[in-house]
Amino acid sequence: MALYTQDSIDRLKQAIDITEVVGARTELRRAGGRYQGLCPFHDERTPSFSVNPELNLFYCFGCHESGDAIGFVQKTEAMDFREAVEMLADRYGVELKKENEDPEEEAKRRVFEHRIRLLERTTQFYERYFWEAQEAAEARAYMAARGLGDDVLKAYRVGFSPSAWDKVLLAARRDGYTEEDLYSTGLGQRSQQGKFYDRFRGRIMFPLADNRGRVLGFGARSMKEPGDRREGPKYLNTAETGIFHKSRVLFGIHLARTAAAKAGRVIVVEGYTDVLALQQAGLPEAVAIMGTSLTEEQMAELARVATTVYLALDADRAGQEAMLKAARMAETRDVALRVIGMPEGKDPAEIIADGGLEAFQPLIDNAMSVPEFAVRRALVAADLSTTLGRANALDDVRPLVQGVPEGPMRIEMVRLVGDRLNVPDHVILTALKEEPRRNPPNGSRPPRPDTGAALISSIDRLVRAEHEFLAMCVKHGAAAQPFLDRLNDDHFSSGALRRFRVHLAAHLDSPLTGLPEDDPELMAVAREIVMQAEEQPPEVEALQLGFLQLDLRRID
Ligand code: UTP
Ligand code: MN
Repeated sequence: MALYTQDSIDRLKQAIDITEVVGARTELRRAGGRYQGLCPFHDERTPSFSVNPELNLFYCFGCHESGDAIGFVQKTEAMDFREAVEMLADRYGVELKKENEDPEEEAKRRVFEHRIRLLERTTQFYERYFWEAQEAAEARAYMAARGLGDDVLKAYRVGFSPSAWDKVLLAARRDGYTEEDLYSTGLGQRSQQGKFYDRFRGRIMFPLADNRGRVLGFGARSMKEPGDRREGPKYLNTAETGIFHKSRVLFGIHLARTAAAKAGRVIVVEGYTDVLALQQAGLPEAVAIMGTSLTEEQMAELARVATTVYLALDADRAGQEAMLKAARMAETRDVALRVIGMPEGKDPAEIIADGGLEAFQPLIDNAMSVPEFAVRRALVAADLSTTLGRANALDDVRPLVQGVPEGPMRIEMVRLVGDRLNVPDHVILTALKEEPRRNPPNGSRPPRPDTGAALISSIDRLVRAEHEFLAMCVKHGAAAQPFLDRLNDDHFSSGALRRFRVHLAAHLDSPLTGLPEDDPELMAVAREIVMQAEEQPPEVEALQLGFLQLDLRRID
């Protein structure tokens, strides 16, 4: 790592006011030559945290954390030394010189810093324009109508770009910036006729900053709703430039990182307005991936700010492949991944606008592991009304369940699958012992029956036999009593059928009476079997045969 010269670091340390840096995190009171406050590193009621500006040091008598201003920023912002130095240098206007920087590198860095300043000025310009311009009144009203207050808009530095073609261009030129600067920051572009003009016009501007809060580009929302005739997409982003790379940016990371480090988790959402809504609702540890799929660079950054990453992505976009990819990335970086099950067609901003944090918090509390999420999704998507559909569903979920290490989690998933497929757990366990069969992820599936199908159809036969036997009992009434009494729970494959056997044994004369109201599953089975009773053969021998079949199977 190219490091900064000792002289740079010394100048920085001279410039930093440690009481100011620490004071931003915890309230300090003067006590002689020192300052005291509540320790930001552990919970306490009486202050044992002390700062000595003379020595540029902090120390906690409670938890023994200690360090200088740079160390304080590293610890509270989850930054490494270099990042903390850079952030503080930004803040205190100290120019950093690199050790042995070659002149070419240095020239490049100067150009970069020059352009960063252009982006910063332009951000300020858009901000002012949002709050003051007559033409931005509609944008202000729109954000307010969505429930986003002034504070959150200011925190994320939301702005508005004038609809004129050259406002940014002219202002930048006045300040000595060239067309090249405007072009390479993505603020200006050239028409086919060779005319240079502002890229962003008449849009709500969301500055996209790096983890130090330096603005690298913008996401710009059209004020028109989809369906209107309008220019360009709903969101226009800064084009990929030497400075801006969409795949590396996480919207809101500079504001989320402190909260994330503290909470131990970061919440990943799709869009800008989702981040704003969550922050306003009291969850500042939110960042947006801006409608793309999560990249390695983004995951690396997330892993640095928190140990658990929550994904709250659009239900329709959160494909299984994308989730499994995210899970693999999380695993290599040793972060825990939780998937928030989002209702179809809703994003966090809408949920919070409708129901506040109370509507969103339960979704966080019920977040799932990736395999569980994937299994639930596969089961929801599956056609469970046919044997083949259920066999295919079992095929789909088998590798997912197999991917979960043995343990309570796996047991729970087996139960979940068994429940949905209406198959006893041991069938699922048998199916899991088989080699995973490779399926084309989304492609067409050859309808070849495999072991899954064989198992399911044999289960279907069993269940059908159980149903038929009970239906015959209903049909034959009192004559069935001795058979029913000789059967027990082991003869039946589902809880509802077992409960119906017990009920029927006591109500053979009138099977639909005395059913417990609070057992809809039993009610459904009872109705179904009573209906089937009509179609059963009238001979008592059939009843006897049915009994023998069930009994033999149990002995098996
Ligand atoms: P959405 O279409 O869900 O927008 O795209 P949104 O964030 O909910 O915006 P509102 O609530 O309608 O104002 C999610 C994210 O995908 C990116 C943006 O980052 C957006 O926030 N996106 C979307 C684009 O970059 N370009 C587009 O044309 C659309
Ligand atoms: Mn939205």
